[in-house]
Amino acid sequence: MDQINEIKQRIDVVDLIGQYVTLTKAGRNYKGLCPFHNEKTPSFMVSQELQIFRCFGCGASGDIFKFIQTIEGVDFPESLRQLAEKAGVKLESSGYSKEEQLKKIYYEINHLAVLYYQYLLWKHPIGKPAMKYLKEKRKLTDKTIKDFMIGYAPNTWDALYKTLTKKGYKPEDIATAGLISPGRKDNGYYDKFRGRIIFPFIDINGKIIGLTGRTIINKEPKYLNTQETPIFHKNSFVFCLDKAKVAIKKEGVIFVEGQMDAIAAHQFGFTNVVASGGTSLTTNQLKIIKRYTQDLLLCFDSDTAGSSAMQRGIELAEKENFNIKVIMIPTPYKDLDELLQADKEQATSIISNPVPVYDFYLASAFKRNDKSTAIGKKKIMEDLARQFLGVNNKVIIDHYTKRIAEELDINEETVKTVLSSREKQAENTKDTIKEKVIEEQTADIVLSKTSPQEYMLALLLKTPLDIAQTILYKLGQKDFPNPTIQEIFVLFKDYLLGRKQRFKIEYFNNKLNEEQKQVVTDLYMWDLVDVTEDPKKFENELENTFERIKKESARRELKELSLKIKQAELEKNIKLVKELSEKVKALSGRLV
Ligand code: UTP
Ligand code: MN
Repeated sequence: MDQINEIKQRIDVVDLIGQYVTLTKAGRNYKGLCPFHNEKTPSFMVSQELQIFRCFGCGASGDIFKFIQTIEGVDFPESLRQLAEKAGVKLESSGYSKEEQLKKIYYEINHLAVLYYQYLLWKHPIGKPAMKYLKEKRKLTDKTIKDFMIGYAPNTWDALYKTLTKKGYKPEDIATAGLISPGRKDNGYYDKFRGRIIFPFIDINGKIIGLTGRTIINKEPKYLNTQETPIFHKNSFVFCLDKAKVAIKKEGVIFVEGQMDAIAAHQFGFTNVVASGGTSLTTNQLKIIKRYTQDLLLCFDSDTAGSSAMQRGIELAEKENFNIKVIMIPTPYKDLDELLQADKEQATSIISNPVPVYDFYLASAFKRNDKSTAIGKKKIMEDLARQFLGVNNKVIIDHYTKRIAEELDINEETVKTVLSSREKQAENTKDTIKEKVIEEQTADIVLSKTSPQEYMLALLLKTPLDIAQTILYKLGQKDFPNPTIQEIFVLFKDYLLGRKQRFKIEYFNNKLNEEQKQVVTDLYMWDLVDVTEDPKKFENELENTFERIKKESARRELKELSLKIKQAELEKNIKLVKELSEKVKALSGRLV
């Protein structure tokens, strides 16, 4: 526990979150656009005094560890590790296991290899043609080349082998890390990547876990990837996620096929793009993406391979319940990279107008078969019947029925029968579940000025001491009917009335139990700058809210009195009835 506090002391929540979100000062708090949901006006608050964040839009809240867990999609131990590293705090652990020690070595080896390949690309004459290729042929900027840590592995047998063994690394370890391969001859090993542009595989913590190398000397394969190693598992690696994760939380993810497509997209400012990196899209990759977003755009190559990869991708993503849309690369371009380089405007427009998966189904069915022949039409309808299997919505069926009928020049009725003649019950239940989830997500509205008692406390937490004291004198327990709010009011009044110095939220919070603390924290982080920064307005709000509270109290008291009067009448206690009625009169006067 001590280490957690040590880390908390060294890392300021505003600095940390400021690295992900633009924060502006809002009174005693900071505010910005929430990184965890999409919003146009900021409801994401950060408190330096309390060292926590709170979003009044989506409800996310917590300390620096919670922030890292949520934004990086990692568990608590991993957030601890990351923040300890940032803070320069050494974690006392039970000592690394042998396995972990080895993993550390593989990370180091990969890191050093990339530094070496970068050096060759930027500084060494041998890297000149590679740099020329990147800049002229692939149109990458210096910044992109640096950001993606791109390097060059020369077409020689043992440049890397020599460099790393000279630094003392064992050949077996370098081989296990995937950078050299055992050879036939006596010296035993040769470099695996030769004559290739090197793109590091960087995990979400910024560690290099493997590489891919694109040939620039026309050797097969075009891309060579690190094999499975103790630190690289291609099925659960997502290329570029380290750079895209923050944007993905807000904008959803765009999945492309190739690394170069992802890199080009980032260079053009589309920072929510990732690639699968040497495999077709896998369920593991989707599960990782799901920590960040439910919204998935697939943008695969326009060729047949790309199209069938897209089909598979859609099927997998549907199983994971993503909201899926498709970005189709228009002819004559092959992939996003080509399109971006050739026509940025068109690229921007197709990226911002993704189409439903059905449009993609139609397009690829028409492309695969000859729609001018009867056999072709039959095949197309068979394909589409399968793909529309899960679709129940009549409007959608109608819409596509028309389009298909027109395109194939056949009867609408025929199309409709084919498209809607399947059992669709399973899908029905799926839809209901989805709707329910959405409902639950939106039910979470946090604070509103409708409770004057809560609003008053929120204001008082920011009111200058002397004014707050004057108001508190005039308020009593009875003015706060909600039990938790009443407890807080009592504690707050008690705390403030005795004070001479400025109110400190940290100290006050120490006097509260967990539930109370939660409420006070929310009240304190409520963004009231509009009010509190304007003395006149502040004064007005205090006054109005005070009046509203008193009126509510009077109303409640009236209700109680009328009950009592009824009781007294039943008991025929004339005197009491009269007394109570006097009180009612006085109170009613206060209500107008
Ligand atoms: P493509 O052949 O479509 O290449 O492979 P590309 O991305 O357009 O590459 P450039 O633009 O010619 O440089 C798509 C992806 O498939 C994987 C790579 O991840 C590549 O980015 N791939 C391809 C391999 O893993 N090995 C290969 O030999 C080829
Ligand atoms: Mn390409």
